[in-house]
Amino acid sequence: MLELLIFLIPIYIANSSPVVLGGGVALDLGKNFFDGKRIFGKGKTLRGFLGGILAGTLAGGIVSFIYPLRFFADPQTQLIAAFFLSLGTLCGDAFGSFLKRRIGIESGKQFMPDTFIFLIVALAFVFPFALPSLFELFNVLFFIVLTVILHPLTNALANKIGLKSVPW
Ligand code: CTP
Ligand code: MG
Repeated sequence: MLELLIFLIPIYIANSSPVVLGGGVALDLGKNFFDGKRIFGKGKTLRGFLGGILAGTLAGGIVSFIYPLRFFADPQTQLIAAFFLSLGTLCGDAFGSFLKRRIGIESGKQFMPDTFIFLIVALAFVFPFALPSLFELFNVLFFIVLTVILHPLTNALANKIGLKSVPW
């Protein structure tokens, strides 16, 4: 169980850090998709994207030194995995925004799949680097259930301490 929580560290750091690290140029450079709506919207910035990847990789890198996980062949692979988990998290987050814009939900508005899309994409990105034991049904269900519960809670907290303007 502890191993499952430790595994999630780079994903959660990568997903939460853009709130403080983001700003500046939009990831879609302000451009619209074919439907005339923004590709990702104003909530996704280049700095948030790169900063999130960096923060998640850094956190996962530190973890790989102090806590080698049995889901990876060795600590080096775990470090590489931290990068792909972070990259997957931010790509999944942007993909979620892409979907929101396509179905006409504005930036910052609530969207239930926001709570777990980033996790699914992160798991897909780490697939080539992890041992099969990571993807046991119990583990995957644990990741999804915990994330769907934690995501709204941490967002509400970020809103309370003034980091986010909305509580989701
Ligand atoms: N953020 C960022 N760059 C990213 C992701 C997030 O700068 N790649 C910052 C933005 O300031 C964003 C905040 O983190 O407003 C919260 O992120 P999120 O809830 O994912 O974005 P929303 O503003 O809700 O936009 P969307 O509807 O597109 O999800
Ligand atoms: Mg949001």
